[in-house]
Amino acid sequence: MKNTIQITRPDDWHIHVRNGDILKTVVPHSARCFGRIMVMPNLVPPVCKANQADQYREEIVQAAGELAHFRPMMALYLTDNTTVEDVRAADANPHIVGFKLYPAGATTNSDSGVTSVTRIMPVLEAIASSTLVLQIHGEVTDPNVDVFDREAEFIDQVLSPLRREIPELRIVFEHITTKQGVDFVKAAGESVAATITPQHLLFSRNDLFRGGIRPHYYCLPILKRHEHQLALLDAAISGDPSFFLGTDSAPHSRLKKETSCGCAGIYSAHAAIELYAEVFEAMDALHQLEAFASFHGADFYRQPRNQDQITLERIDWEVPANYPVAGNQEDEIVPLKAGELMRWRLVENE
Ligand code: DOR
Ligand code: ZN
Repeated sequence: MKNTIQITRPDDWHIHVRNGDILKTVVPHSARCFGRIMVMPNLVPPVCKANQADQYREEIVQAAGELAHFRPMMALYLTDNTTVEDVRAADANPHIVGFKLYPAGATTNSDSGVTSVTRIMPVLEAIASSTLVLQIHGEVTDPNVDVFDREAEFIDQVLSPLRREIPELRIVFEHITTKQGVDFVKAAGESVAATITPQHLLFSRNDLFRGGIRPHYYCLPILKRHEHQLALLDAAISGDPSFFLGTDSAPHSRLKKETSCGCAGIYSAHAAIELYAEVFEAMDALHQLEAFASFHGADFYRQPRNQDQITLERIDWEVPANYPVAGNQEDEIVPLKAGELMRWRLVENE
C-alpha cells in the first residue's frame, strides 16, 4: 500500500468564501491546496458586475497572503436585469469565467436570482457567443415539487429545453446529486459538464437523519437516496472528462445551522482534497483522482492545467470540532467530519 501520492495541483471549481471575518478564516484552507478556486457570487448584495468581482477578488487574494499558486476565478450573479453589456464586460475581464444562474429562491442568497430562463434569452445568447460558461444551480423552486425531485424536474422543465434552444451554450451543471443528473451530462456531449461535491459522494439522505436530525449535513441540493450516491461515485471515478471537482464548501456560523430554521451549506474546505482522496480510495480508484481533481475542470474551462504538484500522505488526523471565526470570538464554523479521523493529509509547505 502506497503511503504518499503525488498529483498535479488540483482546482476547486465551486466554492463559497463569503466576505469579512468568515472569508479570512476559510480562504487559507483552500489556498493551502488549490490552484484555482471558482468563487460563487451569492453575497448580500450579490456580485453582479465586473468591477464588484474585481474588488471581491482583491479581498480573497489579500486573505490568502503570498501564494504564487493560488488564483481565484470569479463568477457573476445572473439576475433578470443582467444586460448584454454586463456579459461583454465580464468576457473582457481575465478573472471572470462564468455567470451563475440561481433560480430565484432556490437556495442561500438566491432572492435576486432569475425568475424565468425565457426572460433572459438575449443574455444567455450573449454568454453562448462569449468565452464564458453558464454555471447552473439546477433545481426547480415550485414548493409543490418534492424537495428530493427538484433536480430531476429541473432537467425536464428547464435544462433540456434550454439545450435545445441554445445548443452552443457551454454549461456547468453544478453539484449534481442524482442519477438523472449524471445521465443528462453523459448524454449532452462536450458543451456540458458537472461538478460533484464530497458530501454527495460520501453520504446519502439517511445520513441526514442518523440518530437524529443533523443540520451540518444539510445542503442544497439536498442529499439523495443511496442509488443516486452510487451513480455519482461511478461518474466521478469513470475518467469521463465531463465530471470534475467542485466542493460547494459553504461556511455558515454554527448558530445559523443549529437553529429552528437552519440554513443550507456544508463546510469542507478544511479537508477538501483529503475527503475526495478517501472517496477514491474506497472505490479502489486513487489512480483516477488526478484527472477528476486537476485536469477535467481546467480543460472544460479552457485554462492551462497546473504545472506544480501536491503530495498527500497516509496519516490519521482528527478534524477539529470547530474553526473559530477570525476576529469574532462569538462565532465558529463546524466542518464536515468534525471530530472524526481522516486517513489522508496534504503535505504543506513543499
Ligand atoms: O447548500 C448550499 N449552500 N447550497 C447552495 O446552493 C448555496 C450554498 C451557500 O451559499 O450556503
Ligand atoms: Zn454553491
